[in-house]
Amino acid sequence: MKKNFNPVIPVEDDGLEIPEVGIWSIEKYQLVGGYCDIFTKGMRSKWNNLVYLDLFAGAGFAKIRENKDIIKSSALISLSIPTKFDKYIFCEENNDLFLALSERVAREFKNIDVEIFEGDCNTRIDDIKKSSPAYSKENTVLTFCFIDPFNLNLNFTTVQTLANELVDFLVLQALHMDANRNFKLYLNENNETISNYLGSTNWRDEWEKSKLLPKEFVKFLANQYDAKMKELGYLTAVRHQIRYPDKNVPLYYLTFYSKHERGIDFFKKVNDYATNQLGFGI
Ligand SMILES: C[S@@+](CC[C@H](N)C(=O)[O-])C[C@H]1O[C@@H](n2cnc3c(N)ncnc32)[C@H](O)[C@@H]1O
Repeated sequence: MKKNFNPVIPVEDDGLEIPEVGIWSIEKYQLVGGYCDIFTKGMRSKWNNLVYLDLFAGAGFAKIRENKDIIKSSALISLSIPTKFDKYIFCEENNDLFLALSERVAREFKNIDVEIFEGDCNTRIDDIKKSSPAYSKENTVLTFCFIDPFNLNLNFTTVQTLANELVDFLVLQALHMDANRNFKLYLNENNETISNYLGSTNWRDEWEKSKLLPKEFVKFLANQYDAKMKELGYLTAVRHQIRYPDKNVPLYYLTFYSKHERGIDFFKKVNDYATNQLGFGI
């Protein structure tokens, strides 16, 4: 694959808020940045509007815990690609991170159309959707949405609200970290986390019927999620597993969903490339 954009972008400490992240985040940045790059280059001439949506945006910079290197994180990586999106929409719940991101965007990317929402993306999703250009035959819109939560606090209705437009999704599924750890809690009838995550209230019956073992709960959730996306018209998911480097323990999935073969092909290329690049990030 012809590649001239490296999503791993070292930066200096600018005195604003910088969250620490694990070294495995580099793999995530390779994938999201790589996809942004291939998406805008490949689709630029075919669509009137290309939109990037980052629902769990962060501060724009991140510090790698293991070596203290500071690099751009998803929102600023997406703004740094050579062929830009026409519109960028970010959402961040934490006030300090929201302010840091806003200041970094204003400082470095003032000529780009960026809208930043503060708050819970699950409750702000209607406003977020409204800020995206409306689709028409004369004004076509194609969106790439990155969803990067720490845990399972992403409501399926949030994805559903966006999915009736043409949107490719890259979703971080914190199934190993969150779902495995909280398996017993989530099975409790009074807990709504998984019902909200999957957008279905009968998942406990499906779990019973599946006869899977507790250690297979992650597999069950991933399959259920794919089935829900299929109902919305999405093709077979492409899953990338991220592991804790030294211990080789699975941490989470980055799962790509598109309604079009072209999106799937693009992501597979980026996935292969990022996998080959690992270790050469910074
Ligand atoms: C795993 S971090 C990802 C940050 C960024 N995407 C990156 O590339 O490093 C998740 C971010 O989402 C924010 N967040 C958590 N829950 C949120 C919610 N419901 N809506 C919007 N942002 C949220 C957190 O404050 C945090 O900055």
